[in-house]
Amino acid sequence: MMKKGNILIKNAAELVTCSGFKGKKGKSMSDLHIISNGAVVIEEGVIKAVGKTEELLKQYKEEDYKVIDASNKAVLPGFVDSHTHFVFGGYRAEEFSWRLRGDSYMSIMERGGGILSSVRATAEASKEELLKSAIKRLDSMLSFGVTTVEGKSGYGLDYETEIKQLEVMKEADNHHPVDVVSTFMGAHAVLKDYKGREGAFIDFLIEKVMPEVTERKLAEFCDVFCEKNVFSIEDSRKLLTKAKEMGFKVKLHADEIVQLGGAELAAELGAVSADHLLQASDQGIKEMEKAGVVATLLPGTAFSLKEDFARARYMIDNNCAVALATDLNPGSCFTESIPLIFALATLYMGMTTEEAVTALTINGAAAVDKADKIGSIDIGKKGDIIILEFPSYKYIPYHIGVSTVEKVVKNGILVYNR
Ligand code: NIG
Ligand code: FE
Repeated sequence: MMKKGNILIKNAAELVTCSGFKGKKGKSMSDLHIISNGAVVIEEGVIKAVGKTEELLKQYKEEDYKVIDASNKAVLPGFVDSHTHFVFGGYRAEEFSWRLRGDSYMSIMERGGGILSSVRATAEASKEELLKSAIKRLDSMLSFGVTTVEGKSGYGLDYETEIKQLEVMKEADNHHPVDVVSTFMGAHAVLKDYKGREGAFIDFLIEKVMPEVTERKLAEFCDVFCEKNVFSIEDSRKLLTKAKEMGFKVKLHADEIVQLGGAELAAELGAVSADHLLQASDQGIKEMEKAGVVATLLPGTAFSLKEDFARARYMIDNNCAVALATDLNPGSCFTESIPLIFALATLYMGMTTEEAVTALTINGAAAVDKADKIGSIDIGKKGDIIILEFPSYKYIPYHIGVSTVEKVVKNGILVYNR
């Protein structure tokens, strides 16, 4: 259990509350609910009051709190990075060079590299090594203003290593201020022994691995790489239907490289989110909107793979709730940089700064089914707050590729200060 504190932040030039308790769809993504000269009071790690500084200071005594003067600074909810694979062994820098010379991501995977190379390195790494590198990555995320991160297994593909990855995530959650939401993604790739027998691998996960994951509460979500030459629509449907019966909430890596109908499947299953969606069809987007599935877009991955970006503008104009995340992983997108995501979303995906802020706060929270607890500065939510070095949220993408985050407060405790 991380510590919880009492803090009063006052005089914020802009208190960007992102107020709301569920994901924001379409036009409402533009409403940031800003309070000028704002203040926020946090007690025991929970937001107690939000409003104008002069009003709050009449009711709350400064001597009862640690006080942060945010004069000339913008204050926002902590960012929620709702899609990462941050626990892994080894690196794939060599593979990056191959891609620069023209090899495709999928062709490297089909040769036994790609995800399978990280699977080998993760099996070889000890729990201590995995935890050490995971904590280092969480430190880096925290410096970018991330206060909650989702992380996936899937570099195990066998019982032992899948469980090891999830145990590491649990320990990281206990030992680091950033909250970790865990996802079981045993269906991330297919080992050689199971090539052509993907259904048998799905059965193995369902029968042998997932019962242990639920019993030990090692993951809240179940995810699958639904992709040509990986897991088909039928395999994915079978896995996620079972997962739901076992009590998991579900997510999909959907329509990333080939248009398979992953977006449609996400809607059919009532998934919390469908992620990537570079190739999602108009019909799939429509069905996701109707079913209330969050569209989690990962521009860093499209950028790194030199693919066309997901159609964020079309999705928002068609009333979807869009979230943005880094997809931090050792292969398709090795970055924890929130400023990079802001730059790509605004300059290349047609999103406004307001929409991008919503996508990384309240909609990120919705993508991990936690919009009632985090993702906005509202009374009753966790005291997870960032303070920028600039007076407006508009500086976030404007200062291209550079973090504007000066301070991070997690559960009412100042945990990062530069
Ligand atoms: O989200 N697409 C599949 N999974 C990850 C990449 C994992 C890897 O290459 O190691 C993704 O892009
Ligand atoms: Fe991913």
